[in-house]
Amino acid sequence: MRVLFATSEIHPLMKTGGLADVSASLPQALFELGVDIRLVMPAYADTLARLKAWQVVSELNLGLFGHARLLQSHLPGSRVPLFLIEHPSFSTRTGNPYNDSTGHAWPDNAERFTLFCRACEMLALNQAMLDWQPDIVHGNDWQTGILLALLRDNPQSPPSLITIHNLAYQGVFNRATFDALGLPQNLWRSDALEHWGDMNCLKAGLNAARKIATVSPSYAREIQTPAFGNGLDGLLRQRHADVLGMVNGIDIDEWNPATDPHLAANYTLDNMEHKALNKLALQREMGLEIDTEAMLIGMVGRMTEQKGLDVVLAAADQIMQRPVQLAMLGGGDARLEAAFQALMQRHPGRVSVRLGYDEGLAHRIEAGSDVFLMPSRFEPCGLNQLYSLRYGTPPIVHGVGGLNDTVIDTFEATLADGSANGFVMRNLDVPAILWGVSRALEFFQQPKVWATLQAVGMTQDFSWSASAQRYLDIYHQLASTHDELTPASKAPAPETSPAVSRPTRSRATRKT
Ligand code: ADP
Ligand code: GLC
Repeated sequence: MRVLFATSEIHPLMKTGGLADVSASLPQALFELGVDIRLVMPAYADTLARLKAWQVVSELNLGLFGHARLLQSHLPGSRVPLFLIEHPSFSTRTGNPYNDSTGHAWPDNAERFTLFCRACEMLALNQAMLDWQPDIVHGNDWQTGILLALLRDNPQSPPSLITIHNLAYQGVFNRATFDALGLPQNLWRSDALEHWGDMNCLKAGLNAARKIATVSPSYAREIQTPAFGNGLDGLLRQRHADVLGMVNGIDIDEWNPATDPHLAANYTLDNMEHKALNKLALQREMGLEIDTEAMLIGMVGRMTEQKGLDVVLAAADQIMQRPVQLAMLGGGDARLEAAFQALMQRHPGRVSVRLGYDEGLAHRIEAGSDVFLMPSRFEPCGLNQLYSLRYGTPPIVHGVGGLNDTVIDTFEATLADGSANGFVMRNLDVPAILWGVSRALEFFQQPKVWATLQAVGMTQDFSWSASAQRYLDIYHQLASTHDELTPASKAPAPETSPAVSRPTRSRATRKT
């Protein structure tokens, strides 16, 4: 089974959120299942700086976008092959892949991700000098939507699957932008790219993909409703037979409290006193009062509307009347950043907020906190609650999407059957957050029950084994039905596709 896995982020080469984690750990799990999986991502400046070595495989002629170099390397720490599309619009800009340093989207994002899709199209059609054609193209999020749309209209194409990691980001651009992209005019139709007079890259991908996966069963249901469908719920209802909810796994080696190199002390269920050392170290590192009694609430994440942080802010002064501390790491929306800094100033020594991206600190907050707060307005899957469960840090969550599927509220029945692992708020408002924190405190002050909650999370299986196998089953199903549908798919690929022409082979060069 040959799979081309196209994505705009891969940890540790480029990451703004969970997409990067999944784009590293899922392909790794599939590779271990014997899949010939190859990753493709843009070659961002930061990615090239982080990679130790690569080879130039060929030069791709992307028509009006000029040329891109196709680089080959490996996912760091693994044998999974990685291709990078090196074009100046990616390789000369540092920082966030979608936004400039002021947080505004790059004005040429439509061009950048269209040319990325064009280059991926050449890989998918075996036109990139690799002598390799995938049986399946697996796209992720809006950045790969145009790729799937281009492939759909080509009989030589392999079948495709898209995973929605977040329906809120759709890659919407206006008609004039579409006209300047040199895409086939027939993509401008409502069952392809056109959406209420604009172009919508995610919609194009959803229309084109044979199967639509998303990252939890609850989110798969939610996105078919107007409340969570971001304007695409009608289309998703129409495709409901093809919409699959598959909960994400995590990299259980990277997120393992027993071996995590970022921690002050490693621990397992047998020496939980070492977890307490991490709490002390975190209080010291973040300038919080050293206080073993206070319930330390951790938060890590992008500061966006999605994460429900405005509600935390509205409840915060009341929360801080309880015996708790708050340690937070994140960045994003400038107003939220400022409001959390103001909160820190109002509660010195009891609230600490670090702005920016810090991989090590994210691990230390998972380990050093007593509880992890994740009151997302919507959450396709969520990885942080899985990390916190594995680190013996019960999560307090809003019961939506993947949070609903992975966190089991603590009450008599779930304590009795041994499933309780956290706290689930059924609403998202100030009373709900106060309720969640109070419930957690009530159990936190009963050490025996607390230890049971921690043990449930720490012994659950969050690996990819089940979901990776399901992806593989779907690949097989798509590949076999595709062969029946289009016997021509085995024929050699066409010479050229409309806006791109055959690459020239470059002499292999290597960066050391
Ligand atoms: P989302 O993808 O919506 O941001 P997830 O919970 O799926 O949410 O994944 C977030 C990932 O990004 C986690 O690996 C988390 O640790 C990481 N992360 C988010 N913000 C930061 C930050 N400021 N510093 C370090 N890691 C972060
Ligand atoms: C998105 C979602 C998050 C999910 C991640 C990986 O960024 O917001 O819930 O865990 O993708 O699938």
